[in-house]
Amino acid sequence: MAGGQPHRPSRMRARDNGLRILVTGGAGFIGSHLVERLIRDGYNPITVLDNLSRGRTSNLAGGWGSIRFVKGDIRDENTVTKLMQNTDLVFHLAAQSNVIGAFQDVDYSSSTNIVGTAVVLQAARAAGVRRVVFTSSREVYGDPSRLPVSETAPLSPKNAYGMSKVAGEMCCTMSAGQSPETAILRLANVYGARDYGRVIPLFIESALNGLPLTIYGGNQILDFVHVGHVVDALMKAACGEHVAGPVNVGSGKGTTIVELAERILKLTNSRTKISWRPSRDMEVTRFVADTARGRRLLGLEHRDEPLSRLAELITWTAKEATPVSRCIAV
Ligand SMILES: NC(=O)c1ccc[n+]([C@@H]2O[C@H](COP(=O)([O-])OP(=O)(O)OC[C@H]3O[C@@H](n4cnc5c(N)ncnc54)[C@H](O)[C@@H]3O)[C@@H](O)[C@H]2O)c1
Repeated sequence: MAGGQPHRPSRMRARDNGLRILVTGGAGFIGSHLVERLIRDGYNPITVLDNLSRGRTSNLAGGWGSIRFVKGDIRDENTVTKLMQNTDLVFHLAAQSNVIGAFQDVDYSSSTNIVGTAVVLQAARAAGVRRVVFTSSREVYGDPSRLPVSETAPLSPKNAYGMSKVAGEMCCTMSAGQSPETAILRLANVYGARDYGRVIPLFIESALNGLPLTIYGGNQILDFVHVGHVVDALMKAACGEHVAGPVNVGSGKGTTIVELAERILKLTNSRTKISWRPSRDMEVTRFVADTARGRRLLGLEHRDEPLSRLAELITWTAKEATPVSRCIAV
C-alpha cells in the first residue's frame, strides 16, 4: 500500500498470526500485558520499541525468546523509520503516561506524546503499515459536565497530559481515509499487575506497609478497568473491522476514591488510616465511560464489577511488586 493513497476500510483477520507487529511502549504496564497476549496467541514477529523511561525489561521476562526488543525513542525518526519497514500493525502505547509526570515535565510530555506520535504515524504511512492503534485517555474530556461520558462529549483537557492526548488523536485523524487506518481507544483508569505510581498500586503499597492512604480532595469518582479488558479492546481494535473515531474503554461504572481506599484497607486487613490532603488543580475528578459505542462497534462487554480483580492484585503486589513510594498520578 503506497503512503498517502486513499484507503478502503479493511478487516484484519483475527487469527492472522503472520501479521508483523510493532508495539511502542511495550515494556510498560499495559504494553507488557499486550505483548504477553500477542505471544500467547501465536503472533510472530513482534517488535517492542521502548526507551525504558518508565518501562522495565523485567516486564517482558516471559517473552524474551519470542520478541525483538529495541531500546529506543519514538522521537528518533531514524529508529522508527527502520522499525516500520516490514510492519503491518502498530500498537502505539509509548507515552509520558500520566498527569503529574506531564505537569512536572511539559517538554518531555509534549515532545513524546505529540511529536513522537507524529513521527510514528508519518513513518507508518511511508512504510505502508495497515493499521495503527493509539492509546488515548479519558483525560481528553477534562471534568465532564455529566456522567457517563460518551465519545461525543466536548474535548476539554484540564492538564498538559490531556492536551497531549488530544493532539495525539489529531495526529491519528488528520489523514482519515488514507493509510494507515487508525484506531483510537480512550482508556479509563487501568489497573493490574506491573503498574506503579498510580492510585491503586500506591494505595495497596501503603496499606501493605501500614502507611496512611493519601487522598487529594476526596470527591473523585472514577472508572477503574482491569488491564485484561483493555488488552481485549486493543486486540479487537487491531484485528476486527476498522472503527474510525474514538472509542471509550472502561467498565462503565463509577467508584469513588473513598470506596476504593476502604475496599483496599479491608482486603489487606490494614488498620492504617486515610490521610486527607487538598485537591490538586490539574486532576480530573469525574469520569465514568459511556461504553455503548465500544459494545456496539468492538463487541466490548464489561460484565464484572470494576474492582473484582483487586484481591488478586493485592496478592501479586505482596509477592512481586517493587516498592515505589513516589506518587505520580491518580
Ligand atoms: N494506565 C492507565 O490508566 C492509562 C489510562 C489512559 C491512557 N493510558 C495510555 O496507555 C498507554 C500505556 O500506558 P501505561 O499505563 O502502560 O504506561 P507506562 O508508562 O507503563 O508505559 C508507557 C511506556 O512508554 C515508554 N516510553 C515513554 N516515553 C517514550 C519515548 N519517548 N520513546 C519510547 N518509549 C517511551 C515508557 O518507558 C513505558 O514503558 C500510554 O499511552 C498511556 O498514556 C494509560
